[in-house]
Amino acid sequence: MRTVGWDNDAVKMIDQRALPWKLEFVRLETVEAVAESIRNMTVRGAPAIGAAAGFGITLAACQSQARAIDGLIDDLRLYGDLLKAARPTAVNLAWAVDQLLAIAASGEFRNPDDLRAVLLQAAQQIADDDVAINSRMGAHGATLINDGATVLHHCNTGALATVDYGTALGVIRAAFEGGKNIHVLLDETRPRLQGSRLSAWELEQLGINYDIIPDTAAGYYMQKGEVDIILVGADRVAANGDFANKIGTYQLAIMAQAHGIPFYTVAPTSTIDLCLGSGDLIPIEQRDAAEVTTPYGNPIVPAHFNARNPAFDVTPHRYLSGIVTEHGIARRPFRESLRRAVAGEAL
Ligand code: MRU
Repeated sequence: MRTVGWDNDAVKMIDQRALPWKLEFVRLETVEAVAESIRNMTVRGAPAIGAAAGFGITLAACQSQARAIDGLIDDLRLYGDLLKAARPTAVNLAWAVDQLLAIAASGEFRNPDDLRAVLLQAAQQIADDDVAINSRMGAHGATLINDGATVLHHCNTGALATVDYGTALGVIRAAFEGGKNIHVLLDETRPRLQGSRLSAWELEQLGINYDIIPDTAAGYYMQKGEVDIILVGADRVAANGDFANKIGTYQLAIMAQAHGIPFYTVAPTSTIDLCLGSGDLIPIEQRDAAEVTTPYGNPIVPAHFNARNPAFDVTPHRYLSGIVTEHGIARRPFRESLRRAVAGEAL
């Protein structure tokens, strides 16, 4: 089942806010609604956001009243900016929009309807490629997991965070499907609880053993020697290997190093941003403090209590054992291995 797709002149996606209680789909008929679905996290996870944005641009092309190609391209640029502004950290969003805008601006199209048809094909291709890439990352990454291992995982990086199959959770799935006996410790991932709500829901479907743990218990299990490897996703990887991921990843990386536990991120090359030399240049989204004080509408403190809610943090590359990509596992020096991965070379 795909997280996001095209459905008769609309974008169809799972409403991730309703899980694990209800599996519901929403159908969005305007590009503004797609931008809002990214902002309010109906759809979330870097590759899933990228795919949604690709279909969003296709929708924008259908929505545009422009009769001439130049007018259509102008409209696509405006809508592209709207989509890109929805969430700043995951580079897959801008990457997907820019892929489609480059096709529009290629000079190959005179007729707006021809361009509309090609944009739909290209958005569909981004979604299809995502599934194929995740399966390749799964195969590479599964070699890192030993039979009987306990894997610690943060946030949700599974089928829901992508078009299907997943990145870090896809690696866990590939190892499990390859016959390995695996146990997963799922950080609940406050404040939006992607670990307990979404990753646990996915592992239930797959029949993979797991326990949800409070985020604050990760160090406890590492200290007891119960964590063999840590796998996380990424929202943006800089050229030197520093990477942004869900808030809480940085502290896990430091604890992993203190305990000698291998720590990997799993990221398709669409998440690698070679334009940024290091992680301090990655824009970090600051979300509404109400997600901390009143998660999912349930007040846990009075609404006027002060809170802050950074959605991501940056983990310096020195804490990484490697980066699993669709072309193999990038090792240090990351500047070199990431450049080769983005060029499509086998690692
Ligand atoms: O705020 P979210 O839920 O979109 O954050 C998601 C993550 O941080 C994931 O780890 C990342 O997107 C990689 S998922 C394939």
